[in-house]
Amino acid sequence: MPEFPYARLRRFPDVEAPNLQAWDATDELLVAAALADAGERRIDGSAIAVIGDGYGALTLPLIAAGFTGVRVHQDLVTGRRALARNAEEVGLAGFAPHELDAGLLDGVRLVLLQLAKGLAELEEISDAIARWAAPEVVLLAGGRVKHMTLAQNEVLGRCFERVQPQRAERKSRLIVASVPLAVRADPPFPVSSTHAEFGLTLCAHGGAFAGDRVDIGTRVLLGVMRERAAELTALAGRDGFTAVDLGCGTGALAASLALAAPAARIIATDRSAAAVRSARATMEANGVADRVTVTLDDAGSEIPDGSVDLVLLNPPFHLGASVHEGAGRRLIDAAARMLRPGGEVWTVFNSHLDHRRALAAAVGETEQLTRTPKFTVTRSVWR
Ligand SMILES: C[S@@+](CC[C@H](N)C(=O)[O-])C[C@H]1O[C@@H](n2cnc3c(N)ncnc32)[C@H](O)[C@@H]1O
Repeated sequence: MPEFPYARLRRFPDVEAPNLQAWDATDELLVAAALADAGERRIDGSAIAVIGDGYGALTLPLIAAGFTGVRVHQDLVTGRRALARNAEEVGLAGFAPHELDAGLLDGVRLVLLQLAKGLAELEEISDAIARWAAPEVVLLAGGRVKHMTLAQNEVLGRCFERVQPQRAERKSRLIVASVPLAVRADPPFPVSSTHAEFGLTLCAHGGAFAGDRVDIGTRVLLGVMRERAAELTALAGRDGFTAVDLGCGTGALAASLALAAPAARIIATDRSAAAVRSARATMEANGVADRVTVTLDDAGSEIPDGSVDLVLLNPPFHLGASVHEGAGRRLIDAAARMLRPGGEVWTVFNSHLDHRRALAAAVGETEQLTRTPKFTVTRSVWR
């Protein structure tokens, strides 16, 4: 079989940079192990599921090897768009996108998984496989050795009787899990917590940022929003006022604004499906679901230019496992694009990042509203 042309895969529309690649050795190990297992156990494409494929480096080599009907779940809409684009680029079709649900896993006998960074995400995925896949399912989970921990084996061990870590190869390692255990009747996610100090309940699926806790940066921005409630109410009084929680995670900022400004039209948007499901549950839990629209989108790409009065922004500073300023810059540029004249962005970020300069360049005049040893909150006004 000819080598799969991995080098033709791109991350686009995700951030691209010389030190960021669209595939890694784990993808190649997972595919090789999956082809061997599928051949041995005579599994066809329709009984294979792929979870956590970054940009297509798991799914497309399987299709290229003749396995059609493979089911795929990717949390990030950027990954979904990249997979679709890469499939077209290399001329392959025949996979079926799914959410993390029974439709993804029903009758599945082989699962390939790029291990998630967070244990809660792994817990939700392991539970889903044990709950919905065929009893003879084999899970091939892989990661870069430097990001793997024994706690991952423990999480897998709660859902599978056999968990067998393999020898590391090219700085990656596979774990083979099989014999799914009985799961409890109700799925373990979403979890939820009430935060009395903010008058908020947060709901979280496994992959959502900070789980059902209030992240420390979010906490600082929520504090500023509370102190400056009068300014927010004045802004919200503008004709046709629209606010966006850009990169909403579990939706803490959107829910808080909706509670403080009952007439506001609010869009909460994130590129992660787990975040979107969590934010929807958060809006329900706080009784504001009728006023906050939650969307799965990349950097609010579906929000028209010049249509927004207020953007609340707690930008990411990670891209996958690597720290990269490009992640936050992308959302700053997006905020600038969607603002109306006189519109504002309220941003919280790690004080060591140079976001203030980026905000001033992309949006306009930027003032500091508060600064703690770790976090800075700024207000930028669209020029
Ligand atoms: C630091 S968290 C903030 C979450 C929430 N706003 C809060 O304050 O708790 C950043 C969020 O941005 C999301 N994100 C990162 N890149 C994005 C993109 N290109 N488009 C939309 N959301 C993105 C992440 O999925 C994550 O939920």
